[in-house]
Amino acid sequence: EIPSNEDTHKEDIRCLTTLSHFGFECFPTQMVNKSIRKGFSFNILCVGETGIGKSTLINTLFNTNMKESKSSHFYSKVGLKVRTFELLETNIPLKLTVVKTVGYGDQINKEASYQPVVDYLDAQFELYLQEELKIKRSLSDYQDSRIHVCFYFISPTGHSLKSLDLLTLKNIDRRVNIIPLIAKADSLSKSDLQRFKSNIMRELTSHGIQIYQFPIDDESSAQVSGQLPLAVVGSMEEVKVGKRMVRGRHYPWGVLQVENESHCDFVKLRDLLLSTNMEDLKDQTHTQHYECYRRNRLQKLGFNDTGRNNQPVSFQEMYEAKRKEFQAQCQREEEELKHMFMQRVKEKELTFKDAEKELQDKFEHLKRIQQEEILKLEEERRKLEEQIIDFYRMRAASDPPQTPACTNVKKD
Ligand code: GTP
Repeated sequence: EIPSNEDTHKEDIRCLTTLSHFGFECFPTQMVNKSIRKGFSFNILCVGETGIGKSTLINTLFNTNMKESKSSHFYSKVGLKVRTFELLETNIPLKLTVVKTVGYGDQINKEASYQPVVDYLDAQFELYLQEELKIKRSLSDYQDSRIHVCFYFISPTGHSLKSLDLLTLKNIDRRVNIIPLIAKADSLSKSDLQRFKSNIMRELTSHGIQIYQFPIDDESSAQVSGQLPLAVVGSMEEVKVGKRMVRGRHYPWGVLQVENESHCDFVKLRDLLLSTNMEDLKDQTHTQHYECYRRNRLQKLGFNDTGRNNQPVSFQEMYEAKRKEFQAQCQREEEELKHMFMQRVKEKELTFKDAEKELQDKFEHLKRIQQEEILKLEEERRKLEEQIIDFYRMRAASDPPQTPACTNVKKD
């Protein structure tokens, strides 16, 4: 800018028009160029019952083909399928990772249904935290696997949320940005859909479940907040409507056009996700959800920003204190173990002694019985021998003296 000078006449100033940008006004351009060179990445988690339309919606949103085979309803536990796609749209590369539940809602045990999802979200935060805590960290080329948005697919029952929906949402709402979606919304009439939406929002509020808050500074995002949960329909099928080919679902009574805003909220979802809020979702993931995980995790590890009297504590002091505490705990545990071991040895000794005494008593008892038996037998033998002698004596006494044999001859 040329300084104003009262003596300078306007007509004396020679104005030059710049041919290109220069100065710090180029800063945004530099950032854009750098980001394009680096490429973008985005991670989506799809949580919903088997066959609810997760893959079809992702395919419709990104024009991909993520489906290989239908999932079964008979898995013993919930699993997560991770797939990464390298997409390109007008020279802008996007590394899209889609994680989707497999077998969700097919188990009787509800805890077993949501726990794998919670564990997965935490595991991705942990990986990032470990990278952050490394001495030689390389966060610039780190493959961030933290989930930026979770599409929660609600069954189009027309009633309300199921208990599994509430449980899962309650357990993941502090870990991820949730966008609730009514799946297969073509199965609900307009009035049913409106009522269903209000019921769901009422339930979410009454259970204190936090869903992703679209930024209010953006007009279209702010408007959509009142239309949540978005009612979506997915289809990769091309259907002829008039002279145009559109993506839709063909029914005996007509065609549902996926990209027609009066038929469903698909376009709203696509605009909100891809055109307006992708960066904000990533930002919220890092500044809100990851920050919360990191804080809890470090606190559990014993780190604290302030020590006694609200004084800042140096890392060295904290490390020393933690080490001493750990050593004391080890010593305590060692003592306890020793004590327990001695106790167990004493107890065992006592039981062995008791068993030995019992055996000895038994042996003595048997020995006594045996001796008594021997004595009894001896006594019986003696009696028998006396009886034999008596018998012979009596026989000898009763035997008559020997006389010649006399034969009676029968006379006829
Ligand atoms: P799994 O991975 O097997 O759990 O299934 P998924 O949730 O990925 O569902 P998928 O996209 O494979 O769709 C299952 C069936 O529902 C297919 O026959 C789809 O054509 C159909 N489908 C998908 N989206 C919609 C929809 O919006 N409306 C209707 N009516 N059917 C849909």
